[in-house]
Amino acid sequence: MAILFSSKTDDPEPWRAALAAHFEDLDFRVWPDDGGDPADVEFALVWAQKEGALKHYPNLRAIFSLGAGVEHILRDSNLPAGVPIVRLVDAQLTRDMTEYVLAWVLYYHRDHHRYRAQQAARQWRALPPVVAADRQVGILGLGELGRASASALAGLGFRVRGWSRTAKEIEGVACFDGAGGLGEFLDGVEILVCLLPLTPETRGIVDGALLAALPAGACFINAARGGHMVAADLVAALASGHIAGATLDVFEPEPLPAADPLWSHPGVNVTPHVASITYHKTAAAEIVEDIRRIRDGGRARHVVDPAKGY
Ligand code: NAP
Ligand code: GLV
Repeated sequence: MAILFSSKTDDPEPWRAALAAHFEDLDFRVWPDDGGDPADVEFALVWAQKEGALKHYPNLRAIFSLGAGVEHILRDSNLPAGVPIVRLVDAQLTRDMTEYVLAWVLYYHRDHHRYRAQQAARQWRALPPVVAADRQVGILGLGELGRASASALAGLGFRVRGWSRTAKEIEGVACFDGAGGLGEFLDGVEILVCLLPLTPETRGIVDGALLAALPAGACFINAARGGHMVAADLVAALASGHIAGATLDVFEPEPLPAADPLWSHPGVNVTPHVASITYHKTAAAEIVEDIRRIRDGGRARHVVDPAKGY
C-alpha cells in the first residue's frame, strides 16, 4: 500500500517506522521524491502541502492532516475533488493541549504575570488572592480540545464558559453559541483561551472590539492559530492596560520574525507553536485505524466539511 508523506516541518522517518509497524506492504513515499507510479498512492499524510501537489495522485482515497487543524490543507485551491480530508483527533494531543491551557490559566489566575513585573521592580507585595470559584475563564471553541480544557478547568473549581458554533451541553461549563451568543459569553471573562479552528469566519475574531468586551485586566491565551488575533489590536489593548497579559503559541507568520515586537513585550509570553505537538506513535495509530476502515469499505471518523472549513 502506497502512502504519500508531505510536510515542510515534520521528519518523515518516525512516521515511516510507526506505519511500517502496522502495514507489512507499506510503500512510504516522501514528497517530492516519491518515485514509483503516482496512481499507486492511496493515502496522503500532510502538513501544508505545496499548492496542487495532491492533484498528481489520481487514486487518493483520503488526505490525513498531521495535526488537528486543517486550514493548511484547505488553503490549497487546487485540491483533488471529492477526496475526504481527515483531521487528527488523538487523546494524547488533547491531553497535551489541556496541560498547556491549565498551565497558563493557573499562571494568570495566581497573578504570576503581576509578580513577574513586581520582581523586575524588586517589589515585595502580596496581591489579594482570588479563589478559583470566583475566577471566570472562557474558552472560544468547544471541540475536541476546547471541551477537554473546559472540563479540566471546571474540575479545578473555576467558573468556566465556552463558545461554539452549535449549542453544547457540558457539565460544569456554561455554554454559548453562534454570533448572537458571543457578547454574552465574553461578559466578565477574565482569562480568555482561543481553541477555535482557523476558518474564514474565525479569522481575526480576537480584535479590538472583542478585547474591549472583556473586563479591564483580562488575560488572553492563544493556542489555536495566529490568524485568529489581530496582533496590532492586542498590542494596543496591552499598551492601554485593558489587557494585562497574553500568552501566544501561534503567529502569522511562523516562525515569529526576530524583529517582531511581541518577542520582547513585557506583557507577552511567546511559545513556538508547541501547545500540543503531534506525537507520531499515537497519531499514526489513529490514522491506521481510519485507513483500515476505508479499506474495509467504511469511512474515516473525523472528516472535515470543506464548506465549514473544519
Ligand atoms: P474541533 O474539534 O473541530 O472544534 C472546533 C470548535 O470550534 C467547535 O466547538 C466548533 O463549534 C467551534 N467553532 C468553529 N467555527 C466556529 C464559529 N464560526 N463560531 C463559533 N464556534 C466555532 O477542533 P479541535 O480539535 O478542538 O482543534 C481546534 C484548533 O486548535 C485546531 O483547528 C488548531 O488550529 C488548533 N490547535 C493548535 C495546536 C497548537 O499546538 N497550538 C495543537 C492542536 C490544535 P461546533 O462544535 O459547533 O462545531
Ligand atoms: C497543531 O497546530 C495542530 O493543528 O495539531
